[in-house]
Amino acid sequence: MPSVLVIHGPNLNLLGTREPEIYGYVTLEEINRQLKGLAGELGLELRVVQHNGEGEIISAIHEAAGWADAIIINPAGYTHYSVAIRDALGAVNIPAVEVHLSNIGAREEFRQHSVTGAAAKGQISGFGADSYLLALHAVKYLLEGRR
Ligand code: DQA
Repeated sequence: MPSVLVIHGPNLNLLGTREPEIYGYVTLEEINRQLKGLAGELGLELRVVQHNGEGEIISAIHEAAGWADAIIINPAGYTHYSVAIRDALGAVNIPAVEVHLSNIGAREEFRQHSVTGAAAKGQISGFGADSYLLALHAVKYLLEGRR
């Protein structure tokens, strides 16, 4: 069974109470529960981590090189400036899908550019918690070699 690593970046542990008018009321625990259910249906094995630190995210990407077939990552605030996370994604030969709950293209100017996104196969942004579920479908699509 193909294995997928889901990486939630900084502050996403606070989902549900963090600026719910932007990020919604769904908690990270609930997102992970839904992801695991869908992974079962799609025949994917899932490991999920949440890190607030940039270095922890980079280490998780490096370690994934030993076992993961795909990565789903919401780099959160690091999206907009972390060359180091972008480089880590570029260094491992694992297809990645970048996820955002909010539509970063419709937000403040500093959020409209993703530095990390260039190292991903593609991005899903703006569908709230469902962005993660759509990303899992995208992973399935990638692993089937459809792109
Ligand atoms: C986010 C968007 C980022 O700009 C922000 O810093 C986040 C969450 C999103 O999922 O919409 O923390 O990645």
